Amino acid sequence: SEQITVSDLAQRMAVKAREVTKLLMKMGELASESDSIDQATASLLVEEMGHNPVLVSDTKVEDDLHDAVDERSSNIQARPPVVTIMGHVDHGKTSLLDKIRETKVATGEAGGITQHIGAYHVETARGVITFLDTPGHAAFSAMRSRGAQATDIVVLVVAADDGMMPQTEEAIDHARAAGTPIIVAINKMDKPSADPDRVLNELTAKQVISEEWGGDTPMARISAKTGEGIDQLLEYISLTAELMELEAPLDGAAQGVVIESRLEKGRGPVATVLVKKGTLKQGDLVLAGEHYGKVRAMIDEHGNRIQSAGPSIPVEILGLPETPASGSEFLVVSDEKKAREVADFRANREREQQLDRQNTMRLESLFEQM
Ligand code: GTP
Ligand code: MG
Repeated sequence: SEQITVSDLAQRMAVKAREVTKLLMKMGELASESDSIDQATASLLVEEMGHNPVLVSDTKVEDDLHDAVDERSSNIQARPPVVTIMGHVDHGKTSLLDKIRETKVATGEAGGITQHIGAYHVETARGVITFLDTPGHAAFSAMRSRGAQATDIVVLVVAADDGMMPQTEEAIDHARAAGTPIIVAINKMDKPSADPDRVLNELTAKQVISEEWGGDTPMARISAKTGEGIDQLLEYISLTAELMELEAPLDGAAQGVVIESRLEKGRGPVATVLVKKGTLKQGDLVLAGEHYGKVRAMIDEHGNRIQSAGPSIPVEILGLPETPASGSEFLVVSDEKKAREVADFRANREREQQLDRQNTMRLESLFEQM
């Protein structure tokens, strides 16, 4: 069975190891800080110390789950790149995406696109590209912090008349931290006040150096208004993606990330998810964050009901009992017992972390009063 050392357990409870050994002694067990104890003893101990007992290993439950899911995946295939558009407020992210859809999405479908999905794939001359439209960076940060890297490439939109701004820098930092390649779109080139050289200068100061200037960042001068330069940008995206040789198993249990979720009248919780591996099918049992449920319906970005979605494809799913946090991982599990176990485990962990935060705050305010 599972073992944990006394000092590890103490660390997890944020208490001194000596307190744990003392309590163990009271319980009739003689152990030093480096000794290992079993799960049952550890649970008892945690209970004694007034915490809710959680599973001894933080990661074991998750690891087992992933091993089980990975075992079922096969048939590795090339997959479309997932591109996140980032940049400062009003620099033209949404306009750029609108323009790309208008010019590239098959005619007749464009009008039917639902706006709120924030994720869609576009057929270009060089293949399919999946775009994520994150308003601000909240979603991207959440994804990054959870280690669920949903993005292959970041397109950084910088308005040529405004230059580098705080959120431009933030976006660069996010992309760097996640190890994601950046392509710059210098936007609003149609404006008389456009000054692309200034943008190149400012980006250079941030170590984002254009290929034209001997660096390794492709930069396209574009106008989301006129459409100028957008073909060039799409070419940079597909060239970058080609070099990355992106692939994923096509078959087997789906895994991916929750892009966003919301409660809709008459539909209940709706989650937009991006499949990263495997194929998601209607009827699958999905675990997303702390919630699980059977996929009752799947809807693509054009509002059509679909039966399945493969790697890099964004879809809306219906059937979860509640809305999972954006950035949460989702995966298809084989049985409900497993789903419940992991969901409970995650909910417990979340509660504990919240309690810890509350306790820390209480302690802090206590010190403030002194
Ligand atoms: P947030 O989502 O609020 O962060 O903004 P955004 O980056 O999505 O910018 P959005 O596309 O909403 O554009 C902001 C404003 O700039 C709008 O009034 C657009 O019409 C205008 N705009 C965007 N691109 C261009 C462009 O290439 N040329 C000109 N002249 N105006 C543009
Ligand atoms: Mg926008």
